[in-house]
Amino acid sequence: MLRGVFEWVVLLLDGVLLRVMSRFVHANKKNAFLKGNFAPVDPSDVFVQDLVLSRGSLPDDLEGAYLRVGPNPSIQTPSKAYHWFDGDGMVHAIRIKDHKLAYFRHLIQTPKRKLEERFQRSLFVRFGEMSQLWYVIVIAVLWMPLRRKLLSFMPDKVEEGTANTALVYHNRSLSALHEASRPFGLYLPSFGAVRSVGYNSYNGALKTSMTAHPKVDPVTKEMFYISYSPDYGCIVGVVSPDGDLLRSVDIGLERRPMIHDFAITEHYIIVMDLPLLFRPDKLRETKDLFFFDSSAPSRYAIIPKSARSKDEVIWFSGPSCFVFHTANAWEEGDEIIVNACRFERFDLASMSLDENFSFGKQPARLHQWRFNLRDKTIKETGLMDRGGDFPVFCDTLIGRKSRFVYVSCIEPSHDSHNSVCKFDYEKKQVVNQYSWGPSTFAGECSFVPRKNRTSEDDGYLVTFVHNTATNKSSFIVIDSKTFAFCCEVEIPYRVPYGFHGIFLDEEQIQKQYGTF
Ligand SMILES: [Fe+2]
Repeated sequence: MLRGVFEWVVLLLDGVLLRVMSRFVHANKKNAFLKGNFAPVDPSDVFVQDLVLSRGSLPDDLEGAYLRVGPNPSIQTPSKAYHWFDGDGMVHAIRIKDHKLAYFRHLIQTPKRKLEERFQRSLFVRFGEMSQLWYVIVIAVLWMPLRRKLLSFMPDKVEEGTANTALVYHNRSLSALHEASRPFGLYLPSFGAVRSVGYNSYNGALKTSMTAHPKVDPVTKEMFYISYSPDYGCIVGVVSPDGDLLRSVDIGLERRPMIHDFAITEHYIIVMDLPLLFRPDKLRETKDLFFFDSSAPSRYAIIPKSARSKDEVIWFSGPSCFVFHTANAWEEGDEIIVNACRFERFDLASMSLDENFSFGKQPARLHQWRFNLRDKTIKETGLMDRGGDFPVFCDTLIGRKSRFVYVSCIEPSHDSHNSVCKFDYEKKQVVNQYSWGPSTFAGECSFVPRKNRTSEDDGYLVTFVHNTATNKSSFIVIDSKTFAFCCEVEIPYRVPYGFHGIFLDEEQIQKQYGTF
C-alpha cells in the first residue's frame, strides 16, 4: 500500500518534471519524419489473409515470410521533439505459404511501449530531445537513473529501447534489435502475425546493449556483435550457434563515436571509429549529443576474431567520413576489403530539426577500403557515383568474397529511395537498376536466394514500396539476376518507410524456439 502511494507520487513528480523540462527542448513542429509516409499508423495489430496480386505472378519457389521493422511513434512526448530513430518498433510483414499471401503488422510490446500505453504518456527520453544541455543534465543524467531506482517496475537501462531498427535470426530465434538495448525476441507462428516474446540477456551473460547489425558467420554459425556506449567505448563479442555468449573484448577506443554497423571477414572483425563523436560540450552548437568533427581522422580497428585483449587490435587511420551501413568484407592475401555506404559528413540533428530534411541532399555512396595488414596502408575507392544506402547481399557470403551488392538508390531531387541498383565488384560498375515507378519509393530490399540456386545472384529482391501520389503501399518482388519484375500485391493498409528487413524461409519458421 505504502509502496503504491510512493510510486504514484514519484510518477506524478516525473510527469511534472518532464513537462516543465520539455520547454527547454528544441522541437520541430513540421518534422519531416512525422508526415507523408514516415507518419505512424494506428498501433493496433493487423492480419489480412488471401491478398490478391495486383500485377505479375508469384514465383513458385518463393515461400516464407518477409518482415521489416521500423519506427512507429505511438505516444508523443510533451516536447513534441522527434528523431526518426525514436519511434516504437513496428513489424510489417508478408507471409507467403501454399501460394497464398497474407499481410500483418505488430507493434512490438517492449517494456517501454507497455508502460507508456499503461500510463498514456511518454516516460522515456527520446534521441530527438537531446538538443538542450539543461534537459540532458536534469532529465537524462540526474532524474532517469534515480527514477529507475525509485520505481520497481522500470526496466533496466538496456531494456528500455524501442526494438525498431533491424531483425536477426540466430539460434532458431528471431529478434528485433536496437543498438541501445539488448535483442528483443519475437516469435512467428506457422501462419499468423508475429508475437512479442521479450528481451534476451543470453542467460544473464549479456550485460550491455547489442548492435542492431550483428553478423552471423555462414560457416561457423557464430553471431558476432558490437556494443558501444559513451560509458565504456566499444566491445566486440561472439554468441555460439546455441545461443551462449562465449566472450567479449573491449577494443580500447580512445574517443566516443557513434558506431551503427561493423563488418566481419573469415578471421577478423572490423570496427569503424568515425568522427561522429559523443560531444555534449558541443550541444549548444550542434543541438545533438553527437558532433561530426571533419578535422578528426577516421580510425579503423581490425580485430582478430580470436582476440582476447585490446592489445591484439590493429589500427588504421584515414580521412574523416561517416558510415551507417557496411555492405560486405572479405580477405584477399594481405588485405582486408571492406565495402560500405560512405557519407562525406553527417549531421544527426538535421533528422529531427530540419523540416526540409531529404536523403537526396547529401547521400551516402558505395565505397571500398583496402586495409593492408603487411604495410599498414589503406587504399580507398569510390565505387558508385549515385547516392544510396541500405546495401544487401547474399547472406551465405557474409565475410567471404562476394560479387554483387544491391543498394537502395536516391536521386538528388528525391526525399527517399526511388530505385535499387545492383553493383558488380568484378566489373566495378552498376549492372542493373530497377526504378520503383513514378512517385514510388522504398527503403531496403531483402535478398532471397532461390532454392537450388546456380549463381550468387540467383534469387529475388523483395520490399515494400509506397506510391505518394495514390498513398498506397505494395509488396514487390523482382528477379535479382535479371532485375525483371515478378509481382506486386497492394496492401490494404499504408506501410510507413522503415529501417531493415529479413526474409525467413519455411525451415527457419518451423524450427523456431517458442521462447529463449
Ligand atoms: Fe541500420
